[in-house]
Amino acid sequence: MTRRKVSLTELRELADRGERLVMVTAYDYPSARLADAAGLDIVLVGDSAAMTVLGHSSTVPATMEEMLVLTRAVTRGAERPLVVADMPFGSFQVSDEEAVRNAVRFVKEAAADAVKLEGAGPTLSRVLALIGAGIPVMGHIGLTPQSATMLGGFRAQGKTAEKARRLLEDAVALEDAGCFSLVLEAVPAPVAEEISERLSIPTLGIGSGPRCDGQVLVLHDVLGLYEGRSPKFAKRYANLSTEIRGALERFAGEVRSGAFPTEEHTYAMPEQELAAFLSGSRAGSRAEG
Ligand code: KIV
Repeated sequence: MTRRKVSLTELRELADRGERLVMVTAYDYPSARLADAAGLDIVLVGDSAAMTVLGHSSTVPATMEEMLVLTRAVTRGAERPLVVADMPFGSFQVSDEEAVRNAVRFVKEAAADAVKLEGAGPTLSRVLALIGAGIPVMGHIGLTPQSATMLGGFRAQGKTAEKARRLLEDAVALEDAGCFSLVLEAVPAPVAEEISERLSIPTLGIGSGPRCDGQVLVLHDVLGLYEGRSPKFAKRYANLSTEIRGALERFAGEVRSGAFPTEEHTYAMPEQELAAFLSGSRAGSRAEG
């Protein structure tokens, strides 16, 4: 039975009732199914895929074609959670028209429910254009990895009164432009709390303290699947890389020792069919010899 997709209104109502929203990234069908089964509200096909699944050292190289393949797999697996596709670097920076063209591809070709864009300032006109085209937009401010070099590296943002005030202004501007929610990444907790109180749309914090309307983490950090360095704010809830490596080592060991496969993993055939097959095959090889 197909379950009903969570709506933007429901997300807002949940947040208004003080129920915390939960979002996780996912990049394939099985993890989307698991996020759905675990009752998560939003699944983000993050451009963090460039690092977690494609092996790049930053999110910048993620392409539209790669993100479309991943988003398609996730939307097949996530029935109830809202699926948000992250617009990769270069897909929305050039013009409103290009942003709309690319966001439409996420909705039409990959069945995404919404898209996420990093930044404010020039991003505001993109948000207006996308919403004008009927595509819901999630904003993302604070540490925006696509522009980490401009921000002085992967570091917390809004740590002075002036920078915190600018973040608040950006948040209000994104809400006014029509974003249905806002990611706050690596923002001091009191600043994230003030922004969350001032906005009507739900905020989703990552490294921004407990007073956001919800929290988001990268799946590979949650599962302990990422071999690279995880940020300070990432909490590990499992250690799957050790589990997976152990399983692969046991598999290799059993193949090499002959312990796998056993009869349990092997197909049989009726005895007379086998006898006929073997006698035919041996007669053939005698005739050839
Ligand atoms: O790409 C991503 O995973 C993200 C989250 C960290 C919010 O943007």
